[in-house]
Amino acid sequence: MVIFLIGFMGSGKSWWAHRLAQELHVPNYDLDAVIEEAEGLEITDIFSVKGEGYFRQKERECLESLVEKLQGDETAHAGNWTAVISCGGGTPCFFDTMDWMNLHGLTVWLNPPVEMLAARLITETASRPLLAGKTGADLVELIDHLMEERAPFYEKARVQIKNTHLAMQDFINILEHAPDLP
Ligand code: S3P
Repeated sequence: MVIFLIGFMGSGKSWWAHRLAQELHVPNYDLDAVIEEAEGLEITDIFSVKGEGYFRQKERECLESLVEKLQGDETAHAGNWTAVISCGGGTPCFFDTMDWMNLHGLTVWLNPPVEMLAARLITETASRPLLAGKTGADLVELIDHLMEERAPFYEKARVQIKNTHLAMQDFINILEHAPDLP
């Protein structure tokens, strides 16, 4: 089964995806990197040259073709887990992508406190077009606002992890005991 790591920018998706994939001996894909490779452009340039609407379309297309490719790859089916995909912060929040991910794998929402997100993102706004130019209270306000909009999508995840400083084995135990969707 594919593991989809979702959550706000700065929630630790890439970091966890990398470590988790190593631990589970499965491939790790960063959806932003997959899109950049497909488009031959960095995310910031896709936003500025082609617009957010175009990016969201590509994000969904790249996600679907990646999962299709994994399903067709016999070697990926050796164990219970087949791959870890680290999604972009907005991936679950457009089209029916959150429901689609729930049909195609295990969705895991990394949800650390907003103050932690702000502290991590303050030095990384340049690489994130949605946060460009924001600092201090403006940044916190924007995170709060976006989080409020996005929470209804993130909340559909099968697993939510608030403590992102968990030990690896505890993280894996949570995934292995994920409840079924209602
Ligand atoms: C976005 C998050 C980014 C990237 C793009 C848009 C978002 O990914 O996909 O800048 O809408 O939250 P990260 O969450 O990996 O920063």
